[in-house]
Amino acid sequence: MADLEGNLNAKDWGLDSPQRSWDFPVKGAGQLDFGMRHRLARIFGADGHTAMLAFDHGYFQGPTSGLERIDLSIVPLAPYADALMATRGIIRSVIPSSVTNALVVRASGGPSVLKELSNERVAMQMADAARIDAAAVAVQVFIGGEFETQSIANLNEQIDAGLAYGIPVLGVTAVGKELTRDARYLGLATRIIAEFGAQLVKTYYVEEGFEQVVAGCPVPIIMAGGKKLPSLDALTMAFRAMDAGAAGVDMGRNIFQRTDPTAMIRAVRGIVHDGLRPEEAHALYQELSSGADD
Ligand code: R5P
Repeated sequence: MADLEGNLNAKDWGLDSPQRSWDFPVKGAGQLDFGMRHRLARIFGADGHTAMLAFDHGYFQGPTSGLERIDLSIVPLAPYADALMATRGIIRSVIPSSVTNALVVRASGGPSVLKELSNERVAMQMADAARIDAAAVAVQVFIGGEFETQSIANLNEQIDAGLAYGIPVLGVTAVGKELTRDARYLGLATRIIAEFGAQLVKTYYVEEGFEQVVAGCPVPIIMAGGKKLPSLDALTMAFRAMDAGAAGVDMGRNIFQRTDPTAMIRAVRGIVHDGLRPEEAHALYQELSSGADD
């Protein structure tokens, strides 16, 4: 019998080497269990950084400029992203199941742009996140918003379910029109999200005090992109966020609304993973796009 022979001949015990234990490069994740860490490892590279591409905008604003045909505009960008952030509807209908990206799936929602945006509910059960092979789910949190408590309840419901399934939750700080987007507010919002147990947090960059927002948050901060800026400004913002300690970026319009989105995502990747400075990344964008400067 093959098994018996294998046992008799077993001799490669590596007696001089203690069994290795593995470092994990994601902030605050060292004590999570295997499934959770395995999913986080799909989002973050070996350097602990992530270049995430967001195109979930349709869940509250319908067809967005640049996202009219996701099969044409976004699918070609997938090889350059570590993670794709999208709704389950778009993932199932448009994204090829052969993609190797981590999937961060929108799991809260409700109101459209025509209504009060903070009035969200849980929009996907964790069992479906598991079926779709989500590496994480995203929940919007409206600190200071009209439905603040309800959005925190959504977050907590998904965190409980995520712990049961080993699926991390990305808490997203939503900034209402009436709220000031400054380090004091974002520090409050990101810390609250992490205190409730989200394994990662997405928030906007601010010029003043962003490093304190990062320092005060015990889990990775991923910088949100926001509306389209000139390419050098967008790359500078990504650089500064990473320089202040962000673990990555989650950009949408600043990538897919460019003349050459592939060139832009490669430039963003250069900042996130290769330590390019803004001018270097911008030069890469221009070189790859044959001189685009939008
Ligand atoms: C943000 O809270 C939502 O998930 C957005 O739909 C998306 O992430 C926005 O991406 P961007 O602002 O970079 O276009």
